[in-house]
Formats: sequence, C-alpha cells, structure tokens
Amino acid sequence: MKVTIVGAGNVGASCAEYIAVKRIASEVVLLDIKEGFAEGKALDLTQTATTLGFNTRITGVTNDYSKTSNSDVVIITSGIPRKPGMTREELIGINAGIVKSVAESILEHSPEAIIVVVSNPMDTMTYLALKETGLPKNRIIGMGGALDSSRFKTYLSKALDKPANDIQGMVIGGHGDTTMIPLTRLASYNGTPVSGHLSSEELDDVAAATMVGGATLTKLLGTSAWYAPGASVAYLVDSIINDQKRMIPCSVYLEGEYGETDICIGVPCIIGEDGVEGILDINLDEKEQEKFKKSAEAIRTMNEALSSNL
Ligand code: NAI
Ligand code: 2OP
Repeated sequence: MKVTIVGAGNVGASCAEYIAVKRIASEVVLLDIKEGFAEGKALDLTQTATTLGFNTRITGVTNDYSKTSNSDVVIITSGIPRKPGMTREELIGINAGIVKSVAESILEHSPEAIIVVVSNPMDTMTYLALKETGLPKNRIIGMGGALDSSRFKTYLSKALDKPANDIQGMVIGGHGDTTMIPLTRLASYNGTPVSGHLSSEELDDVAAATMVGGATLTKLLGTSAWYAPGASVAYLVDSIINDQKRMIPCSVYLEGEYGETDICIGVPCIIGEDGVEGILDINLDEKEQEKFKKSAEAIRTMNEALSSNL
C-alpha cells in the first residue's frame, strides 16, 4: 500500500516515521516544495530502517507529483502557520490556495486516493478539499478529533493517576480551542464512568486543558506540535489501509447528522478501506447539543472566508 504525505515539515515527517515504524504501509512518498527538503527527511528516516526493523520504502521528492502516482492514501500537511500581523482570513486565503492546488495535483496522479486533511484551520480546509475536488464525502477525512481525543485521555489519565491506555474518551466538534467538545460525560476508566472517580471541577479542568492542548504546546515549543499529530494521522491511516473499521472522531461532511448540513466537523466515524464508512449519531445531552451547535456556527463563520476560493 502506498501513502503520500504532502508537506515534509514537522507533522509530515512524523507521519512518515510512525507509518514506517509501525509498518502500516509498504511505500511512503514525502513531497515538499522546499528544494531537497523532503529528500533529506526521507533519507534520514530511511537510515533508521535497519535499527528500527522496518522495510517501508520512503522516497522524498520536490514538488514532483508523478512520484506520488497511485497512492492509496494522501495526507495533506502543507500550509503555513499564522504570522504576526496576519488576519485569520489572510491565513485561510493562503492555506486554501495551497490545499486547493495540492488536492488537484494529487488527484491527477492518484484518482482513487482517500485524502486526509491535516492543515489548519482543519475543518475549513477539509470542507474546501471536499468542495474543490467534488470527491464523494467518504474520501475526504479531516484529522483533528483523533489528536484531541488522545490529549483528552492523557489529561484524564493524569487527573486519575491511572494508565492512559485504561482510559476511553472522545472529543467531537471543531478542531479549535473554543470549538472542540471533550465528552466528559461519556469518558470512562476501563468501563467505569470517570465521573465516579473525579469531581465535576476536576472534569472541567481536564476539559479546559484539552481544549487548549494545542496552544499549550505551541507556547512551549514555539511552533505547533508534531509527535501526537503524526501518531494520530498514522492511527487513522492504519484504520484505512488495514480496514480496521475503528471508531475515530474525524471531521467529515454532514448531511443531517447531528442536525447539521453542508459542513465538515468532528463526529465519531467508522474508518475503513473505503474511508468514512459510517457516522455514529450518538445521543448528545442538551448541553452537548448546544455546544455542538455553537461549534458548527464558528466553523461556518470561518468557512465564509473561503468564499473567494470556492
Ligand atoms: P511545517 O511548517 O513544519 O511544515 C509545513 C510544510 O509544508 C513545510 O515544509 C512547507 O515547505 C510545506 N509546504 C508549504 N506549501 C507547500 C505546497 N504547496 N506543497 C508542498 N509542500 C508545501 O508545519 P507543521 O508543523 O508540519 O504543520 C503543518 C500543518 O498542520 C499546519 O497547518 C498546522 O497548523 C497543521 N496541524 C494540524 C493538526 C491537526 O490536528 N489537524 C496538528 C498539528 C498541526
Ligand atoms: C494542534 O492541535 C495546532 O492543530 C494543532 O496541535
């Protein structure tokens, strides 16, 4: 199976690393516009193969889409971060231009690919990729909820002082500080509700820490995170390539689910070889429904900035 990663920066390179180390795909192509950059990352990663024991072939290319031909999955991580003085609309405009041209080039060479969008603002970029390519909605998946859920489980495990892998939990809604919705009501410690182990104040603190999880790391690192994002993408790609049919919250196009239409937003999905194979319409309580509505409104406002790109 062949996976292409567009953007060989921090997140793109981490995706390649985890996909190779976990032997998820036989071939990975890293593509970047910076001359020699993807080639360098690919060479460096390839030199870990004998030490780490994988055989995935990793190739780096500078903007040469012919090398990405017949990819089964393509991950878009290309884009720029917001710079001082730049408005959100300007950022959206620049990243929209990048995502649009990347999506076109991908499909010229891999018409059957499933596309995973990572570039921010992710829900809006996923919507753009869907509208621009006209692909069926099962083939455009925004990655954000997998990452936010892993952060949620990490903060829960800290609050509970229990192993992270004994925790179940999910974050839905938008992939943004104010738009994501950590579902504390449904989170559990090995099947027992976390509300039985933590006070509502403690749960609120966990939810708050989760929501600013990305911003906390950006402050510490001076740029946004890459290990957990890369691992979350690899987890998602594994579910597609190996038809795992995992339930993963992803940003996908809604047509009535959760009372929303014409929007890409995080909801629990079944992810398998056909991409999004189903959406779980779980019962949200009144408060959660209200949050979901607000989250959708915020994403819609962001999507309006795309009007000149659509
Ligand atoms: P980075 O700056 O390290 O890497 C971006 C790469 O994209 C650069 O190497 C750049 O040369 C390349 N690039 C720019 N335009 C391109 C084009 N037209 N074609 C090919 N390559 C191009 O950034 P990083 O940290 O890897 O983040 C990438 C994106 O992912 C950002 O938009 C970031 O906000 C987003 N992100 C999203 C997450 C999520 O959960 N959805 C999590 C973490 C980051
Ligand atoms: C993150 O959540 C900024 O989307 C990026 O780390």
